[in-house]
Amino acid sequence: MRAVRYHDCGEVNVLRVEDCERPEPAHDEVLVEMRAASINPIDAILREQGAPRLPKTTGSDIAGVVAAAGADVDNHEEGDRVFATGLHVGRFGGGSFADFAVVPTDLLAPLPDGVDFEEGAAVALVGVTVWRAMVHHAHLEPGATAFIHGGNGGVGHVAVGFAAALGATPVATARPEYHDAVRGLGAAAVIDYTRDDLTEAAVEATGGADLVLDALPGTYFDTDVAVAGFGGDVSVLAGDEATLSDVPAARSKELDIHMMSMSNLATHPDAPDIGPILDRLGRLVAEDRLEVVIDRTYPLEDAAQAHRAIMEESFLGKIVLTP
Ligand SMILES: NC(=O)c1ccc[n+]([C@@H]2O[C@H](COP(=O)([O-])OP(=O)(O)OC[C@H]3O[C@@H](n4cnc5c(N)ncnc54)[C@H](OP(=O)(O)O)[C@@H]3O)[C@@H](O)[C@H]2O)c1
Repeated sequence: MRAVRYHDCGEVNVLRVEDCERPEPAHDEVLVEMRAASINPIDAILREQGAPRLPKTTGSDIAGVVAAAGADVDNHEEGDRVFATGLHVGRFGGGSFADFAVVPTDLLAPLPDGVDFEEGAAVALVGVTVWRAMVHHAHLEPGATAFIHGGNGGVGHVAVGFAAALGATPVATARPEYHDAVRGLGAAAVIDYTRDDLTEAAVEATGGADLVLDALPGTYFDTDVAVAGFGGDVSVLAGDEATLSDVPAARSKELDIHMMSMSNLATHPDAPDIGPILDRLGRLVAEDRLEVVIDRTYPLEDAAQAHRAIMEESFLGKIVLTP
């Protein structure tokens, strides 16, 4: 089978489409024949900085058909449509950019009828991330306001739609070219993030946000605190460092600041399993209550283009790979 692997970390040119042995599922794993995979920034970051296990097959998100099931797997059988995420973590040398991948059942859910493979692969990692941030950490409720940076991004566009599906009011930032589309996903307002008065505009649009979702804390941490309302939650998804210049402002609002990584769901014994979250995300997509936008699709051989695009280009939604 083909697998897109790297043996050393580095630029995009370390990626190789290689001929490999098809893996065998262990007792608690299924072998999934890949029909779609999607690219996430973490795939490019691991390739650049080094994955814990080398060689590494790149790719976290997969949707496909069960080709074989391990001896202890009784809830998935050959021919089932499934989707999964979490294959980027150090538990695995395998990944989703391959003709087949082995997936443990805690990372896997049935892909409902009416959800195509591309949608399943596209929603998996970003959807679980948004669920973790909004449901597990922030307990987002109907009628609450959510301020979402980057409403056109992979995470951001699903965050907008998911908040709307929960009955909350999403307010997002994006370049002007995406404003209509992000409103179409459910945003009550969209603000150009280059505005000098971004913070004031966000405070006005949210009335003080119950939740702020931030993947760029180094740039926006002060804005997050200013935009959050009393008792609000700030979920920080990414970034290497962030300075909060007005700690008393954050304390005076009694903010909950969450530093999170959805990867814990694939690795940490005390974190919930990914499968049940995917199961519910799949239902939302199947019932047209959550939209995942696919910007473009590449064949597996062009995985390097997907790696380049996720780090260098601006687009709405997700980039997907197919065999
Ligand atoms: N902790 C976790 O569990 C977790 C999970 C998933 C993702 N992440 C991280 O979250 C980040 C976003 O992931 P993604 O999949 O959504 O990536 P993405 O699809 O590339 O989206 C990035 C978004 O950020 C926006 N953006 C970039 N620079 C900006 C700036 N200076 N000001 C405002 N907005 C800006 C982009 O807008 P433009 O299109 O205008 O550039 C785009 O909307 C990545 O760092 C990723 O590694 C973390």
